[in-house]
Amino acid sequence: MDLTPLDAIVRLIWLAGAVGFVIGLSQMNSPATARTGNLISASGMAMAIGATALYLLVRPGSTFNMTGWIIILVGIAVGGGYGLYSARTVKMTAMPQLVSLFNAVGGGAAALIAIDEYLRHQGTVPGLQENVATVLDIAIGSITFTGSLIASGKLMGLRITPSRPVMIPGGRLVTIVLAVVAIAGAGYLFTGNYNVAVMVAILAASLIFGITLAMPIGGADMPVVISLLNSFTGTAVAMAGFVLNNPVLIIAGALVGASGAILTKLMADAMNRSILNIMIGGFGGGDSTVSSVGAGGPGGSVREVSLDDAAIQLAYASSVIVVPGYGLAVAQAQHACRELADILEHRGVEVRYAIHPVAGRMPGHMNVLLAEANVPYPQLWEMEDINPEFNRCDVALVIGANDVTNPAARRPGSPVSGMPILDVDHAKSIIVMKRSMGRGYAGIDNELYVNPKTGMLFKDAKAGLAELIAAVKGL
Ligand code: TAP
Repeated sequence: MDLTPLDAIVRLIWLAGAVGFVIGLSQMNSPATARTGNLISASGMAMAIGATALYLLVRPGSTFNMTGWIIILVGIAVGGGYGLYSARTVKMTAMPQLVSLFNAVGGGAAALIAIDEYLRHQGTVPGLQENVATVLDIAIGSITFTGSLIASGKLMGLRITPSRPVMIPGGRLVTIVLAVVAIAGAGYLFTGNYNVAVMVAILAASLIFGITLAMPIGGADMPVVISLLNSFTGTAVAMAGFVLNNPVLIIAGALVGASGAILTKLMADAMNRSILNIMIGGFGGGDSTVSSVGAGGPGGSVREVSLDDAAIQLAYASSVIVVPGYGLAVAQAQHACRELADILEHRGVEVRYAIHPVAGRMPGHMNVLLAEANVPYPQLWEMEDINPEFNRCDVALVIGANDVTNPAARRPGSPVSGMPILDVDHAKSIIVMKRSMGRGYAGIDNELYVNPKTGMLFKDAKAGLAELIAAVKGL
């Protein structure tokens, strides 16, 4: 292919943008560099968009189309404006549903590109490579569009998309019929036929498939589903890159597709469940049901600890490990948590935080939450690094965390068996702050609560931490 100097310049800028995506992604490996990584990736995207706009304007033979440019500029203003507004105002706990909405528009945009390209052929059959990319783009993009909208609606608790699993009448049969329509249609188009009706049938089957895929899954499993759909968005965008012969879309899409798939696998592994098990439904229909401790567990009684006793233990410890969980996030107690840690450090206590990969309800939930409260990054310890430290720590302070501390995971026969956990029970003393004996996401009793070393402090995380701070200050 002969490249004009303009083609070469534009492709070099695209390449620089793609390098920006890769560097940005690698920077997101650590909370300390994640913000810079985001900025680098966003700059890469701005360069890619800028170069494409330049190419459209000055490429030889191009005619200036005022209507087209108005549509593009209005699209950028509306989409960019809404994106900026929602990203700045979203509450941290509502982040998964926002990400899911962004996934939906990403998948939908990729599908629209493929539909437009297909219609442009007007009767001439595209080559096999383009045909495959177009059909996959339409199918994957449409599944992502409706699946992500449903996922987002479930997390928002909308009435038409309830958080609980909703079984579709004739569930499996409907799925099989949709798959047959899509596969047969794709086969027909791949064998050298141009047919808009068949393309529309594939589109309709895929849109419905996205709904039947997401509706039967419980709201609590949605973060994993969103991560999977995010990976689909990337794949659809990469396909759109093949359709448009645009390398930057192929690279960006492949990066999103691969990283989304890896994240989905990591999340499923950290919950010790297969992705298939999550898609067809297992535990995870909802949160907290009240339990009686000991049932099915090792037996034993629950010991409560008084506020003053807890304050004394913490204030006179030499090392404390804080274990944050979902309850800390819902109570928005991260600032109070940081304040307590500051006071303890001021008294000479070493304070660290144990971060379980699936604590909370979204990837990196605890990192983001504690970063919001300006907890210094070196105090955040990953599970593998902190686990050997529990033996040496005087007090483990568990705040609103449950499943990620359950020793039942170490033996077979429990729904969480095999799930990697934080070795909280190895600490010399354990204080658990939560409101009641309510269960966590997995819906099972926590054997940690009947451990003789454990003292339960039944309080809401935010109010309880405020009381604990006052008690420590009073010593
Ligand atoms: P959970 O096991 O869900 O337990 C949270 C606990 O917080 C509950 O037992 C609840 O007990 C307590 N709580 C709720 N509100 C509270 C408040 N205002 N103050 C104090 N405590 C409160 O949380 P976890 O240990 O973080 O584990 C996460 C679970 O979610 C895992 O099973 C994981 O597999 C699953 N999951 C995670 C993700 C990601 S990506 N993070 C995605 C999907 C599923 P009370 O009602 O007694 O207070």
